[in-house]
Amino acid sequence: MKVNLTNRLLLIANMIPGGHVVADIGTDHAYLPIYLIKEGISTRVIATEITQGPFKRALENVKKAGLEDFIELRHGPGLKPLAPGEVQTAVIAGMGGETIAGIIRDSRPVAGSMKLMLLQPMRNQPELRRQLFSMGFKIIDEDIAVEDSRFYEIIAARRQSPGPFDDIDIAVGPVLRKKKTPIVYEYIQHKIEILESLINPLKTINTASGQKALAQYQRELEIWKEVLQ
Ligand SMILES: C[S@@+](CC[C@H](N)C(=O)[O-])C[C@H]1O[C@@H](n2cnc3c(N)ncnc32)[C@H](O)[C@@H]1O
Repeated sequence: MKVNLTNRLLLIANMIPGGHVVADIGTDHAYLPIYLIKEGISTRVIATEITQGPFKRALENVKKAGLEDFIELRHGPGLKPLAPGEVQTAVIAGMGGETIAGIIRDSRPVAGSMKLMLLQPMRNQPELRRQLFSMGFKIIDEDIAVEDSRFYEIIAARRQSPGPFDDIDIAVGPVLRKKKTPIVYEYIQHKIEILESLINPLKTINTASGQKALAQYQRELEIWKEVLQ
């Protein structure tokens, strides 16, 4: 079975240090574990899944790929099926930022024992960063994957004092704010366009909730514009 990863999972795979035992949390189809073993990036992967359907699909795909000796499937929530020190890198991708933060919060000894966590929140990225800082995790890298004209933030974190941080570190990210690659630049422009499209109609709405939302989006817009300078 050949697996061709799309850009999002490919970028995550490329951020995994060679030779680590890797956990893929919420593996779904098990494409990432299969790719990591076939490409020789990892020699052993533990893949977890909470839902019965995807768990069975992952088992079937691992069997089809003939990789049962290298990929172990564990049924259960988040990092709970793992013991501290069992893996060096965990990938938690394709879930909401609050769900990812909850998974880490519920298993602090396991999360804290890892050298690296690669997190790919689909939404609520600032909330995930805020919670990572408050739990004592440092963001050591960030990048953007583009797939079908959609942008995906990828956050690399590990247990370490985050040091001082500000609103821009939470909203944009401590690494992304300084990373001036063309894709990051495009992403920042995209965020600015979205915020402007939300702000304009709110300017004519005089309700308390409308004004509150307007103030919030204007503050966010200021932050994203500041990063461009
Ligand atoms: C959208 S899929 C993402 C699959 C894959 N990680 C990716 O990024 O392509 C989310 C998967 O995570 C699983 N999931 C959601 N919450 C989970 C949790 N707390 N623990 C383990 N798996 C979870 C879901 O059942 C689903 O298969």
